[in-house]
Amino acid sequence: MNEEGERLDTNNSSYHYAGLTTDIKNGSSKSFSIITDGEKITEIAVFNLDGTYYAISNSCAHKGGPLSKGFFEGDIVTCPWHGWKYSVKTGKSPHQGGDSVNSYPVKIIKDKIYVNSIPSNVGKKIFQPHKAYLKLKESVDDYLVHKSSDGILPVDDKKIRILGISTTNANDKIAPRQSTSEDALDFALEYAKKNLKAETVVIKLRELEFNHCEGYYSKNANACIFPCSISERDSEDQMIQIYEKVILWADIVLIATPIRWG
Ligand code: FES
Repeated sequence: MNEEGERLDTNNSSYHYAGLTTDIKNGSSKSFSIITDGEKITEIAVFNLDGTYYAISNSCAHKGGPLSKGFFEGDIVTCPWHGWKYSVKTGKSPHQGGDSVNSYPVKIIKDKIYVNSIPSNVGKKIFQPHKAYLKLKESVDDYLVHKSSDGILPVDDKKIRILGISTTNANDKIAPRQSTSEDALDFALEYAKKNLKAETVVIKLRELEFNHCEGYYSKNANACIFPCSISERDSEDQMIQIYEKVILWADIVLIATPIRWG
């Protein structure tokens, strides 16, 4: 009878019992903990690819998504959180310049899976987010430890900072026309400037390019990160501007929406 923590052959073997082959159908995977002396040393994902078993780290190099729950096709597993890919044979990314995770040698004795806790390939983190994302992340981290966020927009601390967001999609380039919701926003901001001496900024959403939310929160609460991983991978995504101004700069946010949007 095998138990967690059991080693192959001798107590000195670095091969640890992980589980039974019968628990992993062809084309699927399962996660196991490698335990030594009662202590969990790592979590691995074992994949059954046409009857051959491969083991890689269960934790995605990006933000730790569980690779054993990923989409598995050919020898590639796609992380269920944000779609990073790894070869289950090597732990390496199929894309040049992509991150890799540890891969581990596997031995099958009868129907028992033993995984070597010494990796055959050691994972590497190579990916670096683009500059604007890094700057935002830094500012958010600063903000969270109550440091100044003055680097984002010029700030006069005596003034209230009001951000106006106009959401009308009236397309000025095709057919310029008056937007009553935007007029109302301009009026309110002008009033605040004159009477409250507020500092104001307007963002017109129609002038920015965004990627849509891909619903990471629905996959797992931890998969929804801030700043968003979509902005992290796409340097053209202008949500960064919204994040900077809404999260770090504004005291007050005024949103003007056309009435047809309720
Ligand atoms: S892609 Fe795996 S955690 Fe983001």
